[in-house]
Amino acid sequence: MRVVSGIQPTGKPHLGNYLGAIRNYVRMQDDAEATGGQCLYFLADLHAISMPHDPAELSASTREMVATLVACGVDPDRAILFNQAQVPAHAQLQWLLTGTARMGWLNRMTQFKDKSGKNREGASIALFTYPVLQAADVLLYQATHVPVGDDQKQHLELARDIAQKFNNDFCPEDAPVFTLPDPIIPPDTARIMSLRDGSAKMSKSNPSDMSRINLTDEADTIMQKIRKARTDPEPLPSEEAGLEGRAEAANLVSIYAALAGASTAQVLSEHGGEGFGKFKPALGELLVEKLAPINDRFNELRKDRAALDAILRQGAEKASALGAPTLEAAYNALGLVRG
Ligand code: TYM
Repeated sequence: MRVVSGIQPTGKPHLGNYLGAIRNYVRMQDDAEATGGQCLYFLADLHAISMPHDPAELSASTREMVATLVACGVDPDRAILFNQAQVPAHAQLQWLLTGTARMGWLNRMTQFKDKSGKNREGASIALFTYPVLQAADVLLYQATHVPVGDDQKQHLELARDIAQKFNNDFCPEDAPVFTLPDPIIPPDTARIMSLRDGSAKMSKSNPSDMSRINLTDEADTIMQKIRKARTDPEPLPSEEAGLEGRAEAANLVSIYAALAGASTAQVLSEHGGEGFGKFKPALGELLVEKLAPINDRFNELRKDRAALDAILRQGAEKASALGAPTLEAAYNALGLVRG
């Protein structure tokens, strides 16, 4: 079991990142350990330069993201935690894979369409080729399991297509260079939605901070954001069928269920019939209770920049060593002479 996943260090990590991905990073540390496997989690700083960014902010938020992941329970003694920029093999393998990835495949990526918007001609080349770097990120380590939210599923399918075509085109049948990775997507929290619009996912790039709960929000802010979250005037139903067509209500119930470790049906059997005037404070309090320890650890860890840098340096050394044989095999398979 080789678990690999990444998160962009731009902006503040939010509840969608936590429930969709980071919580699974933490859980999978135990699963990997139990099976003699290995987890690698990285900050996708090379991905972050595909959009306009402020260099000073990127380095600050890279360190803050390390502190956040550790605060959430990623353990740098058990998992390899690093940033892409310190492991050149990611960029090297990306170039090798751009020979295999097809224009038509990348043209179908919905994230490029969303992020480039109406300005396709003005989008960076990096934004277009981004999914090839993402494929390199996981293929470099022979990843078997990739914990992600639903929005990354298409990128993972592309990684599988690239791996398959490379193996077919350049490797003997009994000695493929790449392993086909499986996305691990949580069934109930694959897509946490915006607090202001139940049809849009919760996202760092939404201009309104009220649309998301940041993992570093203080208690007052959390309570206020939940109080102001968009809902409808109906009380909560007692059964799941009653949430149909009520995206905002369904989102709040699924957040509650995920944090309480309960099913949607259990939450509705307990809170069915309540209006949002009653349910929202209960949800706010649960959020505060669950996020407070993360917040406290984050505030402690972020003070020690040297310790955060040491985590990244050590992680990068281990990741480089793990990725080296696959990178070498890919060069060789392509007939590139390495001396
Ligand atoms: P990023 O930084 O946008 O998000 C990090 C993780 O959080 C998940 N996520 C969500 N899950 C549920 N609901 C939401 N509203 C929500 N918003 C975000 C994402 O699915 C992701 O798992 N391209 C990736 C980073 C990346 C990567 C990789 C991931 C680079 N290379 C290789 C896996 C493997 C990204 O931008 O994620």
